[in-house]
Amino acid sequence: MREKLQNILTEALDAINSGTDLEQIRIKYLGKKGELTAVLRGMGQLTPEERPVIGQLANDVRAKIEEALEGAASAFKAKQLEAQLKAEKLDVTMPSTRAKLGHHHPLTLVQRRLEDIFIGMGFSIVEGPEVEYDYYNFQALNIPENHPARDTQDTFYITDNILLRSQTSPVQVRTMEKQKPPIRVVSPGRVYRSDALDASHSPLFHQFEGLVVDKGITMGDLKGTLESFAKTMFGENTRTRFRPHHFPFTEPSAEVDVSCFMCGGKGCRLCKGEGWIEILGAGMVHPFVLSNCGIDPEEYSGFAFGMGIERIAMISYGVDDIRLFYENDARFIEQF
Ligand code: DAH
Repeated sequence: MREKLQNILTEALDAINSGTDLEQIRIKYLGKKGELTAVLRGMGQLTPEERPVIGQLANDVRAKIEEALEGAASAFKAKQLEAQLKAEKLDVTMPSTRAKLGHHHPLTLVQRRLEDIFIGMGFSIVEGPEVEYDYYNFQALNIPENHPARDTQDTFYITDNILLRSQTSPVQVRTMEKQKPPIRVVSPGRVYRSDALDASHSPLFHQFEGLVVDKGITMGDLKGTLESFAKTMFGENTRTRFRPHHFPFTEPSAEVDVSCFMCGGKGCRLCKGEGWIEILGAGMVHPFVLSNCGIDPEEYSGFAFGMGIERIAMISYGVDDIRLFYENDARFIEQF
């Protein structure tokens, strides 16, 4: 019997170590119909002296098997936990996948930059209608009917005296009608010209107008303002150049160039070898325009300027085709 018990113990331990189903092993050796129980059933045949000895031995065997089973079970659980931890490992220091944000349109970016710069110089922002009277777009700006300047701006007419504004300059007139000097405003917005769409023309584009009217405003104020603007917009080393020009609503008038911020003026692809880039038109507000708006040109003077937002964006970002601004190709917009 001793031998039997010893065999049960060895067999059971072997089975446990070989890693087979622990519950099956428990049933096989320790269950009600298990091998140990079977042996104990035979205890009746033992002598009274042997009985406690064998009984003790049987208890030891049971205890050892139970202990081994428990040990194997907890080792198995630990292994399982380890495997689970490994499988579910999270590296919390790993960079997360960022939500994809949209991009501002380059024209929006340039318009805001222009607004910021002029707000910083004390200007406020005003707006005017895109559907405009001939009077504001032309007449009041000293461009009477049959004036050749009307030909340079191929205008979309809606009726004889209503049109899509071809420039933001009418906002000057609307502002001066409403507001007494001192006036210091900028006005961004859409303008329309019946031009065919190509790399440098679009029937819809954007302008940015500026107007200052006060007592004693001079060409020096215009130069200082635009020089300061150019340095902020294109870099501290930027120089400006005023070339004589003609606009009906300013006298004198100028076209303003900035030294090329790519080559510093030596001549490159951006400035087409010129060293200078034209950025805007400007001048001293024509006395006729002031008096058209009820402002006495004897008492007040002013300056004005106007630039194309597309043009500024094209030179700032090196965009060589205006059509890219209107196609809304995400691959283009994403670059800004
Ligand atoms: N309105 C002009 C244009 O569309 C640009 C311009 C020139 C505006 C001179 C001005 C200015 O205010 O003073 O070509």
